[in-house]
Amino acid sequence: MNVADSEVVGGILSSHGFSMTGDAAEADIVLVNTCAIRENAETRIYGRLGLFSTYKRRNPGLLIGVLGCMAERLRSDLLEDDLVDLVVGPDEYRKLPGLVEKAFSGEKGIAVRLSRVENYDDITPVRTDGVCAWLSVMRGCDKFCTFCVVPFTRGRERSRALESIIREIRDLSLRGFREITLLGQNVNSFRDGSHDFADLMREAASVDRSMRIRFTTSHPQDMSERLIEAIAGEINICKYIHLPVQSGSDRILELMNRTYTVDHYRRLIDRIRRSIPGVALSTDIISGFPSESEADHRRTVDLIKELRFDGAFTFKYSPREQTKAWDMADDVPENEKGQRVWEITELQHSIALEQNRAQIGATVRVLVEGPSRKSPHEYTGRTDTNKTVVFPHTDEEPGDLSDVRIDRANSATLFGVRTGDVVRGSSQSLTETAA
Ligand code: 5AD
Ligand code: SF4
Repeated sequence: MNVADSEVVGGILSSHGFSMTGDAAEADIVLVNTCAIRENAETRIYGRLGLFSTYKRRNPGLLIGVLGCMAERLRSDLLEDDLVDLVVGPDEYRKLPGLVEKAFSGEKGIAVRLSRVENYDDITPVRTDGVCAWLSVMRGCDKFCTFCVVPFTRGRERSRALESIIREIRDLSLRGFREITLLGQNVNSFRDGSHDFADLMREAASVDRSMRIRFTTSHPQDMSERLIEAIAGEINICKYIHLPVQSGSDRILELMNRTYTVDHYRRLIDRIRRSIPGVALSTDIISGFPSESEADHRRTVDLIKELRFDGAFTFKYSPREQTKAWDMADDVPENEKGQRVWEITELQHSIALEQNRAQIGATVRVLVEGPSRKSPHEYTGRTDTNKTVVFPHTDEEPGDLSDVRIDRANSATLFGVRTGDVVRGSSQSLTETAA
């Protein structure tokens, strides 16, 4: 989300004559787009600001701005630090050019009002050409889970118009992007007055059948039957759903205001798996929510064993000011939270390892992204089920589709060798492997 937002900021600033540098040391302005979801996200930002203070010592004219959720949460407190010249919340990026001009003449600036309508629909984000693009389709969240600061830092839900999203997808297809991820805090509650998220997904998929469509992140409550049918029915919608469950205990789900029970969630997963054969599923878990007992934790562990997700992101509960849970006692000791996160992470690793090993011998279709992190002789890409695949590089280029026979796997990655020719920019099926 923040990458997409930074691209919007890039679009606003570039239309006012600013240009981007890849080297912070030579910049006149450094803008840090921030996250406030957990305390450690903010701690990392303070570390990053410390690094920029060394640039400012060398170049006293350098402007430093804090953007995003942390700006929205901490507001003028951030300006008390001499280092920070600008504080701009997620709905105020259009003010940046004006604020920057003023800041160059020595006036610190702040803009943190939230909007019910701002969706940056008319801004063309500045994206680096590549294989995968992010595309924000809605902003904000009205769910008010009791642990979550997002409704306070990003404001109320609002969606872009379907037509403008489709226009942007068309442009991205012409520019050569091969995969688009539709983004929103609560993407499946997209609603533009005439269309819902299932409509948007079907339209998005029909723009260019050789382009993959993904989406993130969804709330179980908005996972409609029509959306499941759209994912199942459209060949180029990726068969992968990230569906945060947060806890396996009904008592904790209720305290979290998640609006579903474990049994609802279980039945939803069952429906998804029956409708979309081979679908991959991942989830988010929070460990150590106020009053979470060992018995509640065991229910989460049992649910993970039962549902066997392809991936799970597990977080220690972090109290956030303004939220309802802030008023509940943060009574699970830190080491106990750590222990629970560790247990879930280990369990999930072993499940992912088994699932990945079951792919050995199979041939999977991979959208090639480029050289792997470890070696220029190896390329990496992902299956439509979002599994990372690494294979020796021959003549593949980023954006190609290649079929890879899997011969080795760990819990995070599949390894194999290419079979057959690559498919280059054609409309051949994105998901089915060659016979
Ligand atoms: N503490 C820990 N994790 C949180 N998340 C959101 N708020 C908190 C919090 N206060 C997690 C949820 C969400 C993911 C994006 O971050 O699991 O799905
Ligand atoms: Fe936060 Fe997601 Fe809940 Fe919205 S649905 S309040 S973004 S956890």
